[in-house]
Amino acid sequence: MYKTHSCGELRKSDVGKTITLAGWVHRYRDHGGVYFVDLRDRFGLTQVVINPEESKDLAQIVSEIRNEFVLQIEGQVNARPPEAVNPNMDTGEIEVHAAKITVLNTCKPLPFSINKEENTDESIRLKYRFLDLRRERMQKNIILRHKIIKYMRDYLDEKGFLEIETPIMFKTTPEGARDYLVPSRIYPGQFYALPQSPQQLKQLLQVAGMEKYFQIARCFRDEDQRGDRQPEFTQLDMEMSFVERDDILDLLEDLFTKMSKAVTPHKRILYEPWPKLTYQEAMDRFGKDAPDMRFGMELVDISDIAKNCGFSVFVNAIADGGSVRGINAKGLANYTRRQIDELTEQVRLWGAKGLAYIKISETGEESSTFRKFLNDDDWAGILKKMDAEKGDLLLFVADSNLSVVYDSLARLRVMLGERLGLRDNDVLAFCWIVDFPLFEWSEDEKRWDATHHPFTRPKKEDMALLETDPGKVRGDQYDMVLNNYELASGSIRIHERALQEKVFDLIGLPREVARERFHQIMDAFEYGAPPHGGIAPGVDRYVMILAEEPNIREVIAFPKNNAARDMMSGAPSEAMENQLRDLHLRVVMPEAKKEE
Ligand code: AMO
Ligand code: AMP
Repeated sequence: MYKTHSCGELRKSDVGKTITLAGWVHRYRDHGGVYFVDLRDRFGLTQVVINPEESKDLAQIVSEIRNEFVLQIEGQVNARPPEAVNPNMDTGEIEVHAAKITVLNTCKPLPFSINKEENTDESIRLKYRFLDLRRERMQKNIILRHKIIKYMRDYLDEKGFLEIETPIMFKTTPEGARDYLVPSRIYPGQFYALPQSPQQLKQLLQVAGMEKYFQIARCFRDEDQRGDRQPEFTQLDMEMSFVERDDILDLLEDLFTKMSKAVTPHKRILYEPWPKLTYQEAMDRFGKDAPDMRFGMELVDISDIAKNCGFSVFVNAIADGGSVRGINAKGLANYTRRQIDELTEQVRLWGAKGLAYIKISETGEESSTFRKFLNDDDWAGILKKMDAEKGDLLLFVADSNLSVVYDSLARLRVMLGERLGLRDNDVLAFCWIVDFPLFEWSEDEKRWDATHHPFTRPKKEDMALLETDPGKVRGDQYDMVLNNYELASGSIRIHERALQEKVFDLIGLPREVARERFHQIMDAFEYGAPPHGGIAPGVDRYVMILAEEPNIREVIAFPKNNAARDMMSGAPSEAMENQLRDLHLRVVMPEAKKEE
């Protein structure tokens, strides 16, 4: 070994020992002819004192070293003088007096600082990810991720689960994105698909009698990138046989509650047990099915009062089949006209046609653009329904399209919650969303589409509706939500061929296509497939929230940028001519790209 101790290890009890350390120069400074180097490795920092007058070698090295040089240092552990003790450092009571230093490697001038947080362009950070990962913040994230994955493994092992790897080169598994394809050399014109999730394979493992499966599974999806999406990401993928919905929810609730407490003990779990909201309730109260339940400011439906109130914006929206809903932003009555105009512009970007408001000042004065259209009863009715008090700002969206009302108010609620400081990062508000509609109508394709995936089981009580009113069928499916993010989705599955075929029929999948894509699972269903169900929490999103990072790139060692490119290697990149020939492929550039 290059070292006898790590840089985070030495204590007062080691004083007097002769030791060897190895690591990076975190920072160095000249204190009147004596040099101090903070030597860093993954385990911590140790202050090293170098007196260049003690030897020519030391003098030479002191003149050369720069940040991030790799050094091996032999020396003696000394107690720091009382005034130099640093209580914020694990090794703050000692320092190492260097006797011999070996430069193991040098370092070019850095593209950004490792030893302090500064605003560095993300593309530079990603290009030099191997340096970026040396930073304390990133090390913390990587360590947190490790702890989380270890906790998951230990917990599930304890509960009798088997970790089983499934193939990366497989066949299409639809999760709503495009597939990444891998061309076959030996079968010209044929392709493997990278799994969007191990969905079919984990169900097949249930038919195979594994009963309790999990995997830290890599998933691949070619879809638009966002802060909480990557083309490849990691799920804690799980599937169980002979379970009902609540068996799965109880297990996951126990795991995520205990795990969150273990890895981030300073955070508070707001609800125990976690609330269970139906999809409809989540939409009505929060405007979205992944609500931030750390704070109130819930949506209120005032359509019953607004439908014939005299304000044409409201009346028309409802007459056209829509709705008028509002939120009460307590404490924002001091917002100026200009600030409200800004909010209005913001909701317009989200698709709303406008934003109506009522302000009630601290002294009780009411002001609103639409007061004049309302009689006193309707006015009082709205204020009552909105639970309005002095100091409140009430904001309303009316639209003939209910989803516009939900979406714009949901976003506005989160934005104002943020401004009002209601989104405390030390609070974890988990909840379950259940009873989703099984299908949604695709206006583009004029057919029903699975809201989750086509393997989800319709709820028993709604089975008859499959024939008569598919839009009303609820799925036996559930989402785990944490602080405004969907963390996991899962469902009880179909395990009978006939029912699976019926669902494929309903989503308009031609029988031949269904058979070509999914014959393996449909065949398996005819050989004693047990009732089964599962779930898949997104690991990256969970780590991101616990690490309080704004996007999942910060908790992935080597992520793609938001245009799906690896900035470090440059991937994707062109293939060589002979590779294409071997794969029987020819590249046809899109028109616009040809000129570049
Ligand atoms: P679903 O597609 O909802 O379900 O995904 C489950 C969870 O995976 C995470 N996730 C992502 N994370 C980062 N980048 C992405 N592109 C991305 N896409 C999804 C989210 C999400 O909640 N097979 C089903 C699960 C099941 O039914 O058991 C599935 O994959 O946290
Ligand atoms: P207008 O009649 O467009 O001048 O709008 C009068 C007020 O109603 C303005 O404050 C608008 O922002 C607001 N408003 C307009 N359309 C809507 C809508 N669809 N929902 C809520 N408020 C609206």
